Amino acid sequence: MSPVSDPRETALKSLTAWWADMGVEPELPVSVPKPRPAAPSATSKRTPPPDQSRPATAAAARAAGYGEQGADEAEARKVASAAKSIAELKAAIEAFDGSPLKRTARNTVFSRGNPECGLMVVGEAPGKDEDEQGEPFVGKSGQLLDRMFASIGLDRETDIYVSNILNWRPPGNRNPTTEEIALALPFIERHIALVKPKILVLVGGVSAPSLLRATTGIMRLRGRWAEYSLKDEKFEPGDHIPALPILHPAYLLRRPQDKKLAWRDLLMLQKRLEETK
Ligand code: URA
Repeated sequence: MSPVSDPRETALKSLTAWWADMGVEPELPVSVPKPRPAAPSATSKRTPPPDQSRPATAAAARAAGYGEQGADEAEARKVASAAKSIAELKAAIEAFDGSPLKRTARNTVFSRGNPECGLMVVGEAPGKDEDEQGEPFVGKSGQLLDRMFASIGLDRETDIYVSNILNWRPPGNRNPTTEEIALALPFIERHIALVKPKILVLVGGVSAPSLLRATTGIMRLRGRWAEYSLKDEKFEPGDHIPALPILHPAYLLRRPQDKKLAWRDLLMLQKRLEETK
């Protein structure tokens, strides 16, 4: 019988593989460090029961007065801005039947990690694994995302807070439409306003242009700091959060040769985090 492998050894191996891919030769630690206790988080849960977040049925949406197209952006903004805390926002999204995407999703996917850590990471939309488990970035690309942050010393539970533009999986993992993104933006913008992170990392070609209202693609946006600004009661006029667009791990899984670009961006993030300590 083969010995049962320590999951931390496995994580360490994949982390060093990520470094090696980028031409970095780390000095291997002699032993795996002891796991840190997870930070208390009102919003992250490991394996929620599949029906916990009450995905909407078409009948529920009709009962709430929504047609095929669902709610409009103004209505979403009204619901989002009524939420005065992260927990209230989560509850409001779970109760919102105005997105047609919710009718085909198994779970509402809100966030994971530590909302107090100062670093908020925003991806695109839940995939199959995230839809099943009700947590963002838990599938293959999420594992790579965790390794990317681990490579600059950031722990998935304590050092990052992760969410997505969309809270529901587009059927068949298709790209979200412009209308779906527009309907989701009031919620993620309120989410950012309530978390008020010191730094934002915008993951991939949907998150970065949508939140920065940019017309350029991720290849032009990545590798330089942007300013995320927002009109919200939580912000003074002109307030902004430094935001770093990075390549999506799903893209890096398809094009590992571009990991070196991601590595440069991660080093920029590490430097900025050091400066903001
Ligand atoms: N890709 C994303 O952008 N977000 C997830 O949660 C999973 C995959």
